[in-house]
Amino acid sequence: MRFYIILYVTFGRFLIVAYFATYKSKKIIEVTMDVKKILSQMTTEEKILQLLQINSVFFKDDVGSEATGPRAKFNISESQVFAAGSLLNFMGANVMIELQNEYLARSEKKIPLLFMQDIIHGYRTIFPIPLGLGASFDHELVKQCSAMAAKEAAVGGVHVTFTPMVDTARDARWGRVMETTGEDHWLNGIMGAATIEGFKRDGDEYGLATCVKHYAGYGAAEAGRDYNTVDMSERTAREYYLPAYKACVDAGADMVMTSFNVFDGIPAAANKKLVHDILREEWGFDGIVISDYAAFNEMIAHGYAKDLKEVALRATQAGVDIEMMSMAYSRYLQQLISEGEVDMAWLDAAVERVLKLKDKLGLFENPYRKASEKESERILLCSEHRALARKAAEDSAVLLENDGILPLDKSKLKKIAIIGPLADTGELLGGWKGGGREEETVTVAAGIKAYCGDDVKIEVIEGCSAMLDAKDESGFKAAVRAAKKADAVIMCLGEHQGDSGEGNSKMDIELPAIQYKLIDAVKKVNKNIAVLLFTGRPLTIPRLKKEVRAVLNMWFPGTEGGNAAANLLFGEVNPSGKLTMTFPYSVGQCPIYYNHYRTGRPRKNDERRWGYQSSYIDGPNAPLYPFGYGKSYTEFEYSPVTLSATALDESGALTAEVTVKNIGRTAGKETVQLYIRDLFGSTVRPVKELKGYKKIFLNPGEEKSVVFTVNSDMLAFYGADLKKKAEKGEFELFIGPSSATDNCVKFELI
Ligand code: NOJ
Repeated sequence: MRFYIILYVTFGRFLIVAYFATYKSKKIIEVTMDVKKILSQMTTEEKILQLLQINSVFFKDDVGSEATGPRAKFNISESQVFAAGSLLNFMGANVMIELQNEYLARSEKKIPLLFMQDIIHGYRTIFPIPLGLGASFDHELVKQCSAMAAKEAAVGGVHVTFTPMVDTARDARWGRVMETTGEDHWLNGIMGAATIEGFKRDGDEYGLATCVKHYAGYGAAEAGRDYNTVDMSERTAREYYLPAYKACVDAGADMVMTSFNVFDGIPAAANKKLVHDILREEWGFDGIVISDYAAFNEMIAHGYAKDLKEVALRATQAGVDIEMMSMAYSRYLQQLISEGEVDMAWLDAAVERVLKLKDKLGLFENPYRKASEKESERILLCSEHRALARKAAEDSAVLLENDGILPLDKSKLKKIAIIGPLADTGELLGGWKGGGREEETVTVAAGIKAYCGDDVKIEVIEGCSAMLDAKDESGFKAAVRAAKKADAVIMCLGEHQGDSGEGNSKMDIELPAIQYKLIDAVKKVNKNIAVLLFTGRPLTIPRLKKEVRAVLNMWFPGTEGGNAAANLLFGEVNPSGKLTMTFPYSVGQCPIYYNHYRTGRPRKNDERRWGYQSSYIDGPNAPLYPFGYGKSYTEFEYSPVTLSATALDESGALTAEVTVKNIGRTAGKETVQLYIRDLFGSTVRPVKELKGYKKIFLNPGEEKSVVFTVNSDMLAFYGADLKKKAEKGEFELFIGPSSATDNCVKFELI
């Protein structure tokens, strides 16, 4: 039996709490009492400062990490810094230990600082961007990646991650689509919950607390421009935006971050309906609500509050606990309390939540928790983590086009040219790369060279830069020379990794023009081009589709991107990713998403121009690649759908079944997707809604039956009265390889 001594220094007195760790239940009671006790011994100012989160640069200039918002140091006193409840943006165990030490030495109450960080798709070992991970349609994989990221981050000194981000993303112009798992709220909820589960690590010592974001509707920024206005009906919010956050709350998210945007005319961080009514009252969330970075200040710019005092008042009324990078509470809460505008009980409840999280994380016992430079050396980027990163990159890749050039057959190739701005760079990590390092990232050239060994001669030419404004064509000549001699050309094209992510919205989501010029030049001498596409968002690439023989979308694949690319190109792994975000045909179609409503005048035929119908006169309505789409090196044949019954009632269920057969010559994985369309409702219903998926593996010639159970809960929606329930009537049920499937049967809810 181990004996622990916890030392709290409060009011200059040492309070020693001793307990036996084996008596867990006893410990919980004691520590919970301690939280209350600590609270009772704090001054109002100390309480208020627990609700302040600041950048770690306030403590120390070099913290090994970028600030993830405006870096301006506001007018904050030293004593306030050393009483702040939490910080964000730092990198590494040593920095953390140093900061915590200094904080504990200088702060009055010695309540340990909470260290928060954005661990979005890996800490040092970087996994594919979340939009890529979503395409794996594998929530177990997402969970595993999260668990590994948690372990790395925990030894790096992180306590809470600002993850998962589950904003519904329907507009590829928005740079932050890379951070979500896509346009389907239900799938985002599943992936978000898996992320939380993974970060918790079954509550083991490396588990982290999580913060779901950005509540709410941040992904619906008008015109796809980050931080822009959001305007949607409550119905749309409840149907398509809120469920993913709710799924994360249900999965045990410790914190919720409010978004930058306005929601029904009120900034989310002051939105009582969102935070108090829905999150707290309706969903029963009792964790911490935190604002986004400087979002309190931005309420003034929004034209909602005239000064920080009003901001503080409104935010307390909504129920936001922590202000991230602003000084509204720190400056005005005390005054608001003494004026009777804010209740002391409100403050106590908010601070108690913060203290409870610190306690849950064990910070009062060990304020450094798992932070250890030595452990970091052992754990970060270890071979086990690299192996998972490679698998995740392989399973996230989506084969968009292939006329049979892929997979490449190494035995038939003597020379390969790898051409393009992303051919030999470690800039494959994508936005929010955390502690990921380009120099530790396997480039495509390195991956292919390692795979081919000395058997194949490989020439690598950059050709041009990946920057948006790149104009320099002086590298074209060498590219053409290499292509001319090669049996196959692999072109590594796409966005620069810095061109998606926060603040990186685009008007034009095409490949940069210079890259088409490079294709043109190469194509003149060699048409055997397979493109590896690197991107943080869906791109409008109908032209690319025509120009080359294969397009394998790698997203930003992370640390092991090059090895994954080699395995996919040469058929060691059969691509199986499916898009979780629609690829538009043209940017003019944005926002575009598969689960849209019907229209009174649907377009009958995308080939022809029809008058007085819902259509464009200069292009198709259909996207280039729909949600759920992704090719394979093999082909899968679907049988018609059969139902166990053609009707079900409210308490019943039916099963829907298909047989899927691998009719090609390569083994492969297929994501079998279930969609439902409610034909008529008290409000209109989407053309299709994803209601299930199963990922299966089939050897050549093998077939499997895939069965889904359908019950009335799956048919429920917010009807005319804004109450969620299933309405009787006819439904269509689809099972197929993408949202474009027409493999359909009808059933009835009676
Ligand atoms: C702003 C971003 O919107 C949010 O996602 C992030 O977690 C915070 N900055 C902290 O870095």
